[in-house]
Amino acid sequence: MANQFRNYGAFAVSAAWMLLIALCKITAGSTTETESLLRWKQSLPDQSILQSWVTPATNNPSTTQRPCGWRGITCDTADNVIEINLAYTGLKGTFKNLDFSSFPNPLRLDLKYNQLKGSIPENIGMLSKLRYLDLSTNSLNGTLPLSLANFTQVLELDVSRNNVTGELDPRLFPDGTGQSKTGLISIKNFLSQNTKIGGRIPNEIGNMRSLVLLAIDFNSFHGPIPPAIVNCSQLSVLRISQNQLSVPQGIGNLSTLTTLHLAENKFTGQLPPQVCRRGKLVNFSAAYNSFTGPIPVSLRNCQSLYRVRLEYNQLTGYIDQDFGVYPNLTYMDLSYNKLQGQLSPNWSQSKELSFLSVGGNMIVGRIPHEILQMKKLGKLDLSSNQLSGEISIEIGNLSSMSILRLNDNKLSGKIPAGIGLLSNLQSLDISMNMLSGPIPYQLGDLSKLLSLNLSQNFINGTIPDQIGNLFALQSLLDLSYNSLSGEIPTQLGKLTNLISLNLSHNYLSGSIPSSLSHMLSLSSINLSYNLLEGPLLEDNIFNSSQLEADFSNNKGLCGKIQGLQPCKTSITAPGGKDKKPKPVIIIVASLGSAFLGSLMLVGIFAFLLERKARFILKEQEPTTNRDPFSVRYFNGKILYEDILEATKNFDDMYFIGEGASGKVYKAEMPAPWFLLGMHVFLVYDFMERGSLADMLRNDKEALELDWPKRVEIVQGVARALSYLHHDCVPPILHRDISSKNVLMSADLEAHVSDFGIARFLKLDGSNWTTFAGTYGYSAPELAYTMVVTEKCDVYSFGILVLEVLMGKHPGDLISKIQILAVESINVKDVLDPRLPPPVYEKTVHELQLVMKLVVSCLQASPQSRPTMRSLYQLLEADIFRVSTMASMVLQETNDHEKGAWYYSHEGPPRSDIPHRGNYRHPQHGK
Ligand SMILES: *[C@@H]1O[C@H](CO)[C@@H](O)[C@H](O)[C@H]1NC(C)=O
Ligand SMILES: *[C@@H]1O[C@H](CO)[C@@H](O)[C@H](O)[C@H]1NC(C)=O
Ligand SMILES: *[C@@H]1O[C@H](CO)[C@@H](O)[C@H](O)[C@H]1NC(C)=O
Ligand SMILES: *[C@@H]1O[C@H](CO)[C@@H](O)[C@H](O)[C@H]1NC(C)=O
Ligand SMILES: *[C@@H]1O[C@H](CO)[C@@H](O)[C@H](O)[C@H]1NC(C)=O
Ligand SMILES: *[C@@H]1O[C@H](CO)[C@@H](O)[C@H](O)[C@H]1NC(C)=O
Ligand SMILES: *[C@@H]1O[C@H](CO)[C@@H](O)[C@H](O)[C@H]1NC(C)=O
Repeated sequence: MANQFRNYGAFAVSAAWMLLIALCKITAGSTTETESLLRWKQSLPDQSILQSWVTPATNNPSTTQRPCGWRGITCDTADNVIEINLAYTGLKGTFKNLDFSSFPNPLRLDLKYNQLKGSIPENIGMLSKLRYLDLSTNSLNGTLPLSLANFTQVLELDVSRNNVTGELDPRLFPDGTGQSKTGLISIKNFLSQNTKIGGRIPNEIGNMRSLVLLAIDFNSFHGPIPPAIVNCSQLSVLRISQNQLSVPQGIGNLSTLTTLHLAENKFTGQLPPQVCRRGKLVNFSAAYNSFTGPIPVSLRNCQSLYRVRLEYNQLTGYIDQDFGVYPNLTYMDLSYNKLQGQLSPNWSQSKELSFLSVGGNMIVGRIPHEILQMKKLGKLDLSSNQLSGEISIEIGNLSSMSILRLNDNKLSGKIPAGIGLLSNLQSLDISMNMLSGPIPYQLGDLSKLLSLNLSQNFINGTIPDQIGNLFALQSLLDLSYNSLSGEIPTQLGKLTNLISLNLSHNYLSGSIPSSLSHMLSLSSINLSYNLLEGPLLEDNIFNSSQLEADFSNNKGLCGKIQGLQPCKTSITAPGGKDKKPKPVIIIVASLGSAFLGSLMLVGIFAFLLERKARFILKEQEPTTNRDPFSVRYFNGKILYEDILEATKNFDDMYFIGEGASGKVYKAEMPAPWFLLGMHVFLVYDFMERGSLADMLRNDKEALELDWPKRVEIVQGVARALSYLHHDCVPPILHRDISSKNVLMSADLEAHVSDFGIARFLKLDGSNWTTFAGTYGYSAPELAYTMVVTEKCDVYSFGILVLEVLMGKHPGDLISKIQILAVESINVKDVLDPRLPPPVYEKTVHELQLVMKLVVSCLQASPQSRPTMRSLYQLLEADIFRVSTMASMVLQETNDHEKGAWYYSHEGPPRSDIPHRGNYRHPQHGK
């Protein structure tokens, strides 16, 4: 202040006068800042976030025209702007109209996580006092301006996650004299991750003597790491993964590092031997390169290690000699190198280890039993080595184990029953060993198992019935190339989530249990090279063209499947196949002469399951060891008669929804069948076209589903779900909405099917569950709470609709949609490329509306999702003609009772609900 007064020669005047002069000076100085900011604001396409950036008309400009109270603007005590912070505000636009020369004082400019476009302007260098510049996560392009060299006081510069191109100009850095007046002299943190900068890393980078963190991963740098980098004597974090760098020698003996990421480059030669000379290295990754030579010697006693990834190189050495004990190590991946020696029991002393992978090396000897005591080990991969000996029964002590891979070794002896104790196991692969003896029935206790591979061993005996208890099993059950005998257990049919089943090359005999037709998720089944015989029932899934099936080389299987002999006596449904049967009759009375009939039955069975005992009574069957899932066992005729009675011979009054869905009946069944009062189930017409998933997958059939048709499908599914949720008492949750469970009739009408896991919704909201449903469709909250609400169906519906638009499962797009603002998603970018783009205005509008519905369905918070009824009403309400639809969004009223939604012209409530601790979206799985 004193300086300013001196400038004005104000020493002699009174205190009051001094104050006034001071005010004038400040006002004059900051007016330019104000004007510049306002001019920039005017140039931005969306100014709503800058509402506070105004100069209200007032008589006292001296107090109002400073930008100091505006959003994101911070001033010093003299009201000079020292900070502009508009990070995470959704700011759009360019820097074109921002005159940086009006801001002589800023120390901090933080605009990260916005949607800024265009280039970083040259005049940014006018902010010559800047300490902190963060432009990361925008859409900036062009090259880094040379004027950045003006930032001699900058401590941190981050331009990560932009489309910035070009090379790192050596002039950005100080010269090597130590007397440099320009360049990034003071910088500690330099970040340009995930940009498009390339060329060589200039040697001058070594002149940033204060550098602590250099993060230039995910770029296109090539050539060597410059040797001068050793002059960055404070360097602690070096992240240069995912470039095209080839010569590592520049790292030399840089031993100050705590983090060194070299992964996914083109490095050859040796790893720096002294990388942990000073015992500071914590996080080290050199994976996916072509490093040769030994494991760096300094790693052996590198107690600080926390995470090490050296997989997929050609490193040599001895795994029992080159590594020590690491108190903090949690993650060690040495897989696919050329390591020799035995597995040392010392690994068990690294007590924090949760991930140990040494697969694909040349390790010999036994698995030390000490390793089987590691309580925190969640993944152990010893595959593709030459381990021998037996698997100890102590394996059951690995209580955290979720992925266990011992495949492709020389392990012998029996599979220890203790494996059944690994209650967290999700994937077990012990294939390609020399294991013998039976499959222990305890394997059936692995209730979280998603994949089981025991193939290519010498396992004999029968397949234990308990395999059917592996309800979670999804990706694979492979018992092939063993010596299994006996019949295929009917319980296998309970694995309704299983995608791939391989029992080939065994000695299995008897007939194929018809219960396998309940395995609706199967897309591949191989029963070849066994001793199976008898007919393949025609009502089973094996007829689906989508199923990759191999039944060849058995003893006497027959059926109408390619490669099989036709059966001598045809098992045709009563009523014959030739004349077009009456809808429901064929499904129920003949137990389905088509596989879709069995779909419906699955639905009914699931409803019956809890009342199994009574069901058996009614059947007057003395033996109780029959499988209630078995189609053969089920007396469809009785059910059919009951349905006839319940629907009064399919009287029109039992139709659900007139016209479009006219073939869906609602039947209310009396006791004793449904002893707990009234229940509801749906009986469907025969669906000639198979599932929606099938149609979308087939390029030709997908073309039949033009845009108007697809909108109709969305409407059809919404109608069905709205009915289940809101018109049934008690309401029914479907719980497995996916394109596999939407069936298409001959006239391409959509029908919701498979109530295999449907649940009646108790109105007190206490619907606890274990995971069921189809991965990729299930709502994110199921990952952290087991409470199912109808909003889980709404979420799955959103995914399904997106799939209808895109022609394939949306995958990663889901998480993007959850992050992005509604208006930033252009429906045209997601439409199925196999179809010509929609031409009619009406269709475009409809698709836009559908897309908006998708966004609302995929809200992370269940409460923010609309109800099925409101979605259905929106779709039906002929709103497509509303021309103002573009700005329309949905908002939920507080009145949950009515589930009413209405149109609003304001934005939706922001969906940035804080993520809970263990929140995990299904698409973000490991
Ligand atoms: C940078 O982006 C702007 C706007 O997004 C575009 O007009 C311009 O062509 C781009 N420049 C370069 C060099 O890609
Ligand atoms: C660097 O900063 C000084 C002082 O603000 C300014 O005069 C000069 O124009 C700036 N240089 C560049 C290239 O922006
Ligand atoms: C970056 O540029 C590519 C084209 O080169 C474009 O597809 C992409 O959307 C741009 N990304 C950002 C964040 O601007
Ligand atoms: C480190 O800096 C000094 C002084 O500038 C220089 O002489 C030396 O060549 C640099 N080291 C490397 C390896 O470039
Ligand atoms: C690394 O240090 C060793 C001795 O510890 C030395 O022999 C070697 O030359 C150094 N390498 C480099 C590149 O400085
Ligand atoms: C292990 O981690 C703890 C906590 O981060 C740290 O205090 C300790 O120094 C580390 N141990 C070693 C040997 O680095
Ligand atoms: C399984 O094989 C073992 C020999 O490896 C044999 O002793 C045993 O009897 C076989 N069991 C069955 C059920 O065939």
